Amino acid sequence: MSNSIKLAILGLGTVGTGVINLINDNLNELKRRSGRDIIITEVGTRRQRDDIDTNIMQNSDLMAIAASDNVDIVIEVIGGTTLAKDVIMQAIKNGKHVVTANKALLAEHGNEIFAFAEENNVHVAYEAAVAGGIPIIKVMREGLAANKIEWLAGIINGTGNFIMTEMRDKGRPFADVLSEAQALGYAEADPTFDVEGIDAAHKLALLASIAFGIPLQFDKVYCEGITGITLQDVNYAEELGYRIKHLGFAVRRDSENDGDAGVELRVHPTLIPQDALLANVNGVKNAVLVNSHPLGQTLYCGDGAGAGATASAVMADVMDLVRVLGSKDRDDQSNSNQSNHGHHVPHLAFIPDQLSDTPILRADQMVTGYYLRVHAYDSPGVLADITRILSDAGINIDAILQKPAHKVGQVPVIILTLPVVESQMNLAIEKIEKLETITDKVVRIRLDELA
Ligand code: HSE
Repeated sequence: MSNSIKLAILGLGTVGTGVINLINDNLNELKRRSGRDIIITEVGTRRQRDDIDTNIMQNSDLMAIAASDNVDIVIEVIGGTTLAKDVIMQAIKNGKHVVTANKALLAEHGNEIFAFAEENNVHVAYEAAVAGGIPIIKVMREGLAANKIEWLAGIINGTGNFIMTEMRDKGRPFADVLSEAQALGYAEADPTFDVEGIDAAHKLALLASIAFGIPLQFDKVYCEGITGITLQDVNYAEELGYRIKHLGFAVRRDSENDGDAGVELRVHPTLIPQDALLANVNGVKNAVLVNSHPLGQTLYCGDGAGAGATASAVMADVMDLVRVLGSKDRDDQSNSNQSNHGHHVPHLAFIPDQLSDTPILRADQMVTGYYLRVHAYDSPGVLADITRILSDAGINIDAILQKPAHKVGQVPVIILTLPVVESQMNLAIEKIEKLETITDKVVRIRLDELA
């Protein structure tokens, strides 16, 4: 085999350890595919570990590793947005390619990091940052490169999907399932990132930039988590033929006909038809449904978290970079001035100076269907009042379900609507809540037919 590719792994948590295990398990496959020896030369770890091969240098100084002459590719799996950013910038400055699983860092600082990488003629690869082991970055940047992406909808947090699945199937309490997800290495260091939708919002920001060729704009993603979802709503949704999933949506709105033009970036619990493929993606599985022209809908599904899935994505990036490094060697040998970076797909799929300034729509401009749960006193005319308010606001009711009184004299009324601009729905809900016959705040969950 020709000369070796030298890797440094910064961080030996679930993912870092998973990468070492994958290399040990599949070394022969990796070599046969890349034509190179792939060796880990250095690992960054706070404390010395006696389970690491003695040929690998252990160092707690990550900045030194990122500048080391004994490293070609730096794999950053420490997480966080401070030290991780410093070591990535250091690696780039020192001409090293970077592989990272750090969606928070890229969602928040990716524009700066990618620009610095372009300047330094290196690549920052991030397949593992979105949807775990599903090669969705490669699919969207390369496989769908000829398509115009209209929208995508994804289950992009494994922990959240695991919790929703266990609660629905087994009636297990939220906290209990979350602890299990943490023990299995699925959850973020701060699990509120999982259950409040922040992790999904990080990933959605990345997917949307690749889909539409817009700069990363995590701060404009509308974000709702799963902590407010009750078993009651899960069951009513099922009764009406829907299932509640926590989804991220990136939607291109070209026309003024169904609201303002721009891009919707939103993460929230959503009712989707029970027979939709996404509705049947359970446990820690992630899935991304992409609607593009002319291809139509395609679905990508697999494990979205955990050591093996994430290591698979990290090493897919390493293999890509090994090929780039291989082409550099060839260029050098032929005295070509062509940059090796020119062989690589752009970070956000579009040429950096072609990114567009399409506006990101505010929440009140977004267009979705709704599930409403209204609690009312059981008296004549209540339903008529509610439906009148909705029809005055131009909101089209798709289905309505009134349950028998669960408390003395009170009834839950469940209403499903067709898509409506959120500002209209806000006004209607305000009016409904002012009715004297209404006993509680209206519960609202968005609904999408995924058509
Ligand atoms: N906490 C993340 C999840 C890990 O549950 O999906 C993978 O990004």
